[in-house]
Amino acid sequence: MPTLSGRGRRPTLGRGSRRSRLPYAEAVSPVIRAARLEDVPVLAKIYGHAVRESVATFDVTDPPLSYWRERLSSAERGDHLVVVERDGTVAGYACSSRFRPRPAYARTRETSVYLLPDAVGQGLGSLAYSHLLELLRADRMHSAVAVVAEPNPASVSLHESLGFELVGTLREVGRKFDQWVDTRWYQLRLEP
Ligand SMILES: CC(C)(COP(=O)(O)OP(=O)(O)OC[C@H]1O[C@@H](n2cnc3c(N)ncnc32)[C@H](O)[C@@H]1OP(=O)(O)O)[C@@H](O)C(=O)NCCC(=O)NCCS
Repeated sequence: MPTLSGRGRRPTLGRGSRRSRLPYAEAVSPVIRAARLEDVPVLAKIYGHAVRESVATFDVTDPPLSYWRERLSSAERGDHLVVVERDGTVAGYACSSRFRPRPAYARTRETSVYLLPDAVGQGLGSLAYSHLLELLRADRMHSAVAVVAEPNPASVSLHESLGFELVGTLREVGRKFDQWVDTRWYQLRLEP
């Protein structure tokens, strides 16, 4: 069973729930915990891979390490950065931050999740993201918004399986690797 540490809560996995069917369930015990300052190098490594190898992010150069330290230091309600550890090593993270800076957006968070390439397809993304959404609900955030650059079938499946609704597609709003990239916009209402 997955375990949680740090600020996280132990998940309640009902019989037959999605997460109870995840392939790692009997093999290893992933841990979800709040990211710490010492995780900054691995956070940068995980994200840097996506920067260089994919259109999943529209960054084209690695952000400085100070970017991660600033994210970690945010005390704003609804801002979270959680890591998922596999065999004691950080394999990915999920994070939330303000959707837009203006005050009326305060209870909407933009959410994201990234894993190391050798950690994908094992349920770790779902695990980290589910935990993040629980934190947002506990914070009384109202809505989560995720932007998925196409093509990204794993991210599309992940968001749809967690209940996100496709609310629109922006055509050719990004240009990376000499090609135009569409973004799918997903939204999840966190409160009834
Ligand atoms: C997107 C990402 C976080 C998904 O995490 P993951 O641990 O690989 O996904 P999971 O194993 O939890 O699977 C989640 C769902 O996606 C499906 N899925 C996983 N990989 C898939 C793939 N390559 N193609 C289609 N579906 C896929 C799973 O079957 C599962 O669906 P289900 O819930 O209906 O059973 C991960 O692949 C990743 O880090 N990719 C690179 C970075 C990235 O693209 N981040 C997203 C930015 S928007």
